[in-house]
Amino acid sequence: MNPLVLLRLLWLGRLGYLERLARLSPDGGPIRIGLKRGWMVNTAELIEEVLVTRPDEFVKSPALRIYSRPLLGNGLLTNEGASHMRQRRLVAPAFAHQRVSRYAEVMSRFARDTFANWPDHAVIPSHREMTRLTLGIVGRTLFDADLLSDADEIGKNITELIHFATRQARSLRPTQTETENRRNRSALAAVERLNRAIYGMIEQRRAMNIDKGDLMSMLLLARDEDGNALSNEQVRDEAMTLFVAGHETTANASVWSLYLLAHHPEIQRDLQQQVAATVGSRPIAIEDLPRLPLAMQVFKESMRLFPPAYIVVREALHDLQLSNGLHVRQGDLLALCEYTMHRNPRYFPDPLRFDPTRFSPENEPRINRYAYFPFGAGKRICIGNQFALMEGQIILATAMQHVTVSPASSRRLRGDPLLTLRPKGEAKLRVTRMR
Ligand code: HEM
Repeated sequence: MNPLVLLRLLWLGRLGYLERLARLSPDGGPIRIGLKRGWMVNTAELIEEVLVTRPDEFVKSPALRIYSRPLLGNGLLTNEGASHMRQRRLVAPAFAHQRVSRYAEVMSRFARDTFANWPDHAVIPSHREMTRLTLGIVGRTLFDADLLSDADEIGKNITELIHFATRQARSLRPTQTETENRRNRSALAAVERLNRAIYGMIEQRRAMNIDKGDLMSMLLLARDEDGNALSNEQVRDEAMTLFVAGHETTANASVWSLYLLAHHPEIQRDLQQQVAATVGSRPIAIEDLPRLPLAMQVFKESMRLFPPAYIVVREALHDLQLSNGLHVRQGDLLALCEYTMHRNPRYFPDPLRFDPTRFSPENEPRINRYAYFPFGAGKRICIGNQFALMEGQIILATAMQHVTVSPASSRRLRGDPLLTLRPKGEAKLRVTRMR
């Protein structure tokens, strides 16, 4: 890597580097991603072109396709081409609107169990708490499994693997270091532990041989055109992908939302009042959601400022030219950066201000669809987007029934851009219980 680029990265940090590049080249310009050369694409038109109009000319980034493979295998996030389409068709029914609505009850119950147990005047490690909560929800809704007792262990293993994939993607000698490095060996041992848990679950469910109506049953009952069932390995890859993609992002979005509410007590008060006036203290139900728009607005606005998937990267399959004239060579990476697009004053006036009214029913239609894309776009759009939005809305509304959050320290919470944008550290929040 060019030593100047390296120095700049070390000095500014990765997010600072991305922000600086976005400022320097408003339409897009060169970027270094690990060892590879690439182009940062900074207009909504080009983002639409790459993700929606010409998706077949690109594949996912090496960070996902190669370095996340020990964790995700060949699941939906990492799979490509016809095999991806086949798997997506198989998994899609679990995310159909009607089915996702049925998950609301589980989300509400799990959220209540979490917030009802937060002690008064305590300082809470919100990242750990939200990880436990979202892992519990994804386990119960998609796999009818009780993961709460093992949530801390699973969360720790997944964290280790995400660090591993990020290190690999950024390493100067990624493949050579895979087995040599002690930290990598410990990450690969974490894969083994997770595998044991998931294969155990698959064996158990195959032995039960009943359709529980959840995603695991769908995967086990699925047959391809020749009538073959999915192998245990394929089921494992989809299950692991959904565990990881389905809890890490939502946990991060919930932490950032609570953090922003803690720093904006007037918005927190409005939200508490809306929840109290529409639902009172009973559990949030699916029918309540349309009458809790502020919870959704807060969640969406927090994903604008801190998008959990802060960058989407694609690799060009062949030489091509984008509509702005940019020549892209085969193997070049294109960086579509939610973090900088969502903070671009061209699309969001006064972009650093936390303002949930941007997503009010009157204002939201004016937002450019490809300038705000926390879930991506086109045929690889997040399969869990409705699930995540509903979960976020329920988590925030339930939190506001139980507690008021405030900052635990005067230090600003910084983003840690791994595969997802996590808060750095435990993201501690001070909690006061509602009287
Ligand atoms: C706030 C929460 C979430 C955010 C911000 C988010 C973001 C994203 C983004 C940006 C992508 C597209 C990546 C790309 O094009 O390279 C994606 C894909 C995906 N997400 Fe999510 N996601 C969230 C929640 C979920 C949930 C709850 C699930 C499942 C329960 C899930 C499962 C997936 C899967 C399987 C894919 C791959 C889809 C495919 O390529 O066909 N995500 N997500």
